[in-house]
Amino acid sequence: HNFVDNATLEKVEAVIDAGDTHVHLPDYEVFSDYVGAGGYETLTTLRNSGDWEAVQDQLLEAGVRGLGGAGFPSGKKWGFVRANPGPRYMAVNGDEGEPGTFKDRWYLERVPHQFLEGMLIAAWAVEAEKVFLYMRDEYPQVLALLRIEIAALEEAGLVEPGYIDLRRGAGAYICGEESAMIESIEGKRGMPRHRPPYVAQVGIFGRPTLVHNIETLHWVTRVCREGPQVMNSTEKNGRKGLRSFSVSGRVAKPGMYVMPAGSTITDIIRVAGGMAVGHVFKAYQPGGPSSGLLPASMADIAMDFDVLQEHGSFIGSAAVVVLSEHDSAKAAALNMLRFFEDESCGQCTPCRVGCEKAVKLMQADNWDQPLLEELSQAMVDASICGLGQAAPNPIRLVMKHFSDEI
Ligand code: NAI
Ligand code: SF4
Repeated sequence: HNFVDNATLEKVEAVIDAGDTHVHLPDYEVFSDYVGAGGYETLTTLRNSGDWEAVQDQLLEAGVRGLGGAGFPSGKKWGFVRANPGPRYMAVNGDEGEPGTFKDRWYLERVPHQFLEGMLIAAWAVEAEKVFLYMRDEYPQVLALLRIEIAALEEAGLVEPGYIDLRRGAGAYICGEESAMIESIEGKRGMPRHRPPYVAQVGIFGRPTLVHNIETLHWVTRVCREGPQVMNSTEKNGRKGLRSFSVSGRVAKPGMYVMPAGSTITDIIRVAGGMAVGHVFKAYQPGGPSSGLLPASMADIAMDFDVLQEHGSFIGSAAVVVLSEHDSAKAAALNMLRFFEDESCGQCTPCRVGCEKAVKLMQADNWDQPLLEELSQAMVDASICGLGQAAPNPIRLVMKHFSDEI
C-alpha cells in the first residue's frame, strides 16, 4: 500500500528522465526552490519549540475554514482530535471529485510544498503517527510530482520514510466523503459511516483522525508564515477572507480565481473576462451540483456560507458554473441528478431509490412538483450522508426559480 518506496520512485524517475511518459509534469516549485525561499523553516521552528494552541489561535483568528466545502473551522478540529488519546492519524482529502472543482489541482500543480508543509504542521499539531494522503487518480501528473517531492522530504530528513502514505482513489465520487475515504484507506468499499462518532473520535482503524482538504492545508502554511492577516485583512460585503473559485461554463476566461469571500457572481463573471461571446447570463451553480442553480436575478448576493444557505444553496467547494440563455435549467438539474444516481453508494434507500426516482420524474415534460417535493424531503430527512441529503437541492431550486421550464 505504500507507493513511496524506493523501487517505485526509481521507476517514476526513470520514466520521467527518459521523457517517455504520458505524464507531463507541470512547471511547479520543487523542494530545493521552496526551501531556498524559506520553506519548512516554520515547520522546523514549530517542531522544536512550538505551541500548537498558539497556531490553533492563529487559524481561528484568520478564519480558516474547511475548504473541501463544509466550512468547519479548521482550528477547532485540531482541538477535537487532540481531546482523544493517541495513537492518532491524519488523512488528507485530495479526492477532488465535485464536478467543476479544480482549485486543489491548481495549487498542487504550482506550489505543492505550501500544502505539504501545512500538512506536516497539522500532523505535528495533533501528533499524528502517520499521514494518509488520498489523491484522485485522475490527476496522474499530481501523483507523479507528489511521489518525487515526498521522496525529497524523506531524503532531507523532514519525515521518516513511509510517514506520508500516498494512496490513489479509484474514481468514486463518494470516496471524497470523509468517512467513505477512510473506509477506502482501510481497504474496504467506500461507503459513508453513520455519525456520531465523528472521525475526530473514531477514524482510520478506529483511531482519532484529523481530516483536512488540500487547500485548507495550503492556507495553514500561509497563515503560519504570513500571519492571520493573509486571510482576514480582505473584506467585502461585510465578509472577511479569500476564496478560491473554480470558474467554468459560459464565461470568456474559465479558470481558478482567488477573490474576496464576499464576492458576488457579478464580480466573478467580470474577473473571468465577462460572458463568452454570444451568451447572456441566465443562471449559476455556486458550489458544485449539490448547491443547485440560482437565477441571474440573484447576481448581487455575497457567495458566502451564511448567505447562500438562506437561499437553499451553499458555497461548498466554490465550483462556479455559469449558464447562459442557450442552456436549460431543467436539463442542467436532470444532469446533476443523473450524476448523483450514478455516484450514490447504494447503502441507504432514500438516496439509492430516491435519486433514481427523481431522474425518472424529471424526464417528464411537466414535472410532478408535489411528488418531487415529497421525495426531496424524504431524501433530506433520511439519507445517511451529504450526497443524498443535498441531491434534492437542484430539484428544489429549479422548481423555485425556473418554474416556466418545468
Ligand atoms: P460536515 O459538515 O458533516 O463535516 C465537515 C467536517 O467537520 C468533517 O470533517 C466533520 O468530521 C467535522 N465535524 C463536524 N461536526 C463535528 C463535531 N461535532 N465534532 C467533530 N468534528 C465535526 O460536511 P461533509 O459532509 O464532510 O462535507 C460536505 C461538503 O463537501 C459540501 O459542502 C460539499 O460541497 C463538499 N464536497 C466537496 C467535494 C470536493 O470535491 N471538494 C466533493 C463533494 C462534496
Ligand atoms: Fe450512500 Fe447516498 Fe446513503 Fe450517502 S446518502 S450513504 S451516498 S446511499
